[in-house]
Amino acid sequence: MRIIDVFDTTLRDGEQSAGVNLHAHEKLEIAYQLERYGVTVMEAGFPASSRGDFLAVQDIANRIKQCSVAGLARSTQADIDTAWEALKGAVEPRLHIFLATSPIHMEYKLRMRPDEVMETAVASVRHAAKLFPVVEWSAEDATRSDWDFLARIVEKVIDAGAKVINLPDTVGYTSPAEYSALFRYIREHVPNIHRVKLSAHCHDDLGLAVANSLAAIEAGVDQVEGTINGIGERAGNASLEEIAIALAIRKDVYQASTNLQLQQTVLTSRLVSKLTGMPVPPNKAVVGANAFAHESGIHQDGVLKHALTYEIISPEMVGLSSNQLVLGKHSGRHAFRERCAELGLRMDDKSFNDLFRAFKELTEKKKEVTDEDILALATDVAGERTGYELQMLHISYGSNGVATSTVGIRKPDGTVVREAATGQGSVEAIYRTMERLLNEPVVLKDYRIQSTSSGPDSLAEVYVKVEYHGHVANGRGVDSDVLLASAKSFLDAINRVLLKEQFELVATGG
Ligand code: KIV
Ligand code: ZN
Repeated sequence: MRIIDVFDTTLRDGEQSAGVNLHAHEKLEIAYQLERYGVTVMEAGFPASSRGDFLAVQDIANRIKQCSVAGLARSTQADIDTAWEALKGAVEPRLHIFLATSPIHMEYKLRMRPDEVMETAVASVRHAAKLFPVVEWSAEDATRSDWDFLARIVEKVIDAGAKVINLPDTVGYTSPAEYSALFRYIREHVPNIHRVKLSAHCHDDLGLAVANSLAAIEAGVDQVEGTINGIGERAGNASLEEIAIALAIRKDVYQASTNLQLQQTVLTSRLVSKLTGMPVPPNKAVVGANAFAHESGIHQDGVLKHALTYEIISPEMVGLSSNQLVLGKHSGRHAFRERCAELGLRMDDKSFNDLFRAFKELTEKKKEVTDEDILALATDVAGERTGYELQMLHISYGSNGVATSTVGIRKPDGTVVREAATGQGSVEAIYRTMERLLNEPVVLKDYRIQSTSSGPDSLAEVYVKVEYHGHVANGRGVDSDVLLASAKSFLDAINRVLLKEQFELVATGG
């Protein structure tokens, strides 16, 4: 059985999903969970893209010990040197360097001739190999590149010091048969190919990312790249949990597996979904809420008689267990700490105390506190509070269809300002008041609400997407009151825009 390396790019390609902008402490939380999940490499970000990304990558590189940490770089000396500064503290720092090789990218995006692309790729890999123990080179848009050119450039970058060669399907264009044929071609036409590992990186524009990745594995690649829940640029990346479970369930077909701790699958998926604000569709394979729900009577009858009649993946395999200890009013610090550890929450004493206090407050209102509640609270209390903070909220609403809200917010300089406004509903009234307080237009692009468990005492989680100062950002708010959660999510999104503005961003390649 071959072991396939898992290269997770949730924190880089995944973070390129529209509206997703994670705080550094959220990235670190995801990084710890990825480490627990057992990924081989995590791509922590693109250090040269912004000061914020640099610091987040550096922090992750210094703290993660069980796997390699990678950073993305364009093919310039400045990007490579910046990445090295961010990554040099990692146990196995890896540079992921890319350059486009397709005719359309070379001519219109890079405005470079193929021989210039070849020279640039070789020079940058040579420089990177002097610093990094592992250099991964990606031929961006490989699947729309000329195969002969690709074979020649791959041979040259291997000679220059690349240890991993990645052939991304950057625009999600290829098919399983074509992608596996490409890898076979490269193996046959690159004389020094035995010196490197081959890697697959697929996007999901045609809904084929997982199928293409599995085809690449069948064609012999050593590494597969993707993200948790398949989040990423446009239609997203290949969903790593789907690939790993497919390999586990169909060992007979693929003869390959990963070192992932599959019981961490659901937890990892939930954490990423919560922190990014990207919902997991209920019918999503492996981690969707309905993935193990049997609705039809015939199916239910079959599963009761023998689970394998309709259930090819057992819920336990992905970490869904039905007999969890329920926490509530009488649970003490010790039990709570244990549950947090099982949920993979790593916290310093202060964060733990804040979380425990929030938990205790919740038990006053809610009889049973679920894992979902704890995760929601943890993501709410974690990290430094920066930017605007909700100071007070008052709402009056009746059946006449006009709601009036009074909102107080604490500004970053500590002063408190208050305003009132009306709206057709309570949420609209709150958001209009906040817009007045900010004194600038805010466009609400999306508003979602979900509960952490069933029952009227459940916590409300509100996710919004807003446009402010020309930036689009997601925000999240958690509270046992939906209107307070709505207010918090709005301010959270505004704070993320403000943080983003502190850093200069550059566009990445794919
Ligand atoms: O999809 C892609 O081509 C990328 C590159 C940066 C490797 O993400
Ligand atoms: Zn990509």
